[in-house]
Amino acid sequence: MFVLRKFEDEDMAVMKKWLEKEYVSKWFGDASEWLYEIEHRNDEFDFIKHFIVEEKGMPVGFCQYYDWKKAFDAEGPSEPDGTYGIDYMIGEEHLLGKGLGKELVKLICDKVIEDEPNAIQLIADPTIEEERVNVTSIKVLETNGFKYNKETAVYKKQLIV
Ligand SMILES: CC(C)(COP(=O)(O)OP(=O)(O)OC[C@H]1O[C@@H](n2cnc3c(N)ncnc32)[C@H](O)[C@@H]1OP(=O)(O)O)[C@@H](O)C(=O)NCCC(=O)NCCS
Repeated sequence: MFVLRKFEDEDMAVMKKWLEKEYVSKWFGDASEWLYEIEHRNDEFDFIKHFIVEEKGMPVGFCQYYDWKKAFDAEGPSEPDGTYGIDYMIGEEHLLGKGLGKELVKLICDKVIEDEPNAIQLIADPTIEEERVNVTSIKVLETNGFKYNKETAVYKKQLIV
């Protein structure tokens, strides 16, 4: 069973290790950008909430959520207040392909609902380019109630029906 806890400075080394793995970097891209944001999580990037995923007390992955408007206000189609973006990864390879991604996405969704009373919508973007789509990630999103939105080309989950 996965548990989330706040990202701490001591987690930087393991995060760096995960970001360098091929199956992560092909979707996460440049490690230095992620590390920079995490290093500045208490100032410039305080609108992003970073978490370590633990299993039996050991760090096995990472996830984060962020206020969509603060991250992308000037870019792309605008989204209402209360929209949060999510990102996630299983960092330890031996835990891949066991259906745990579904559990991880549920955990980060529940975390937003728990911590952000204004949350109305969640967004995930598993598409790098039109031809480079993260099929595994889409499956775990769909299992958690996310639906593809054609206009904005991202996956959305409405929290208020
Ligand atoms: C995305 C991620 C969290 C998924 O976790 P996971 O537990 O390993 O996922 P699973 O292997 O259980 O696969 C989920 C589903 O996708 C399916 N799947 C996997 N590879 C597939 C493929 N190439 N084509 C079609 N379906 C595929 C699985 O069969 C499973 O389907 P099911 O739910 O019907 O059983 C994990 O792969 C990961 O951390 N990847 C690296 C980082 C990443 O890509 N993050 C997401 C960024 S958007």
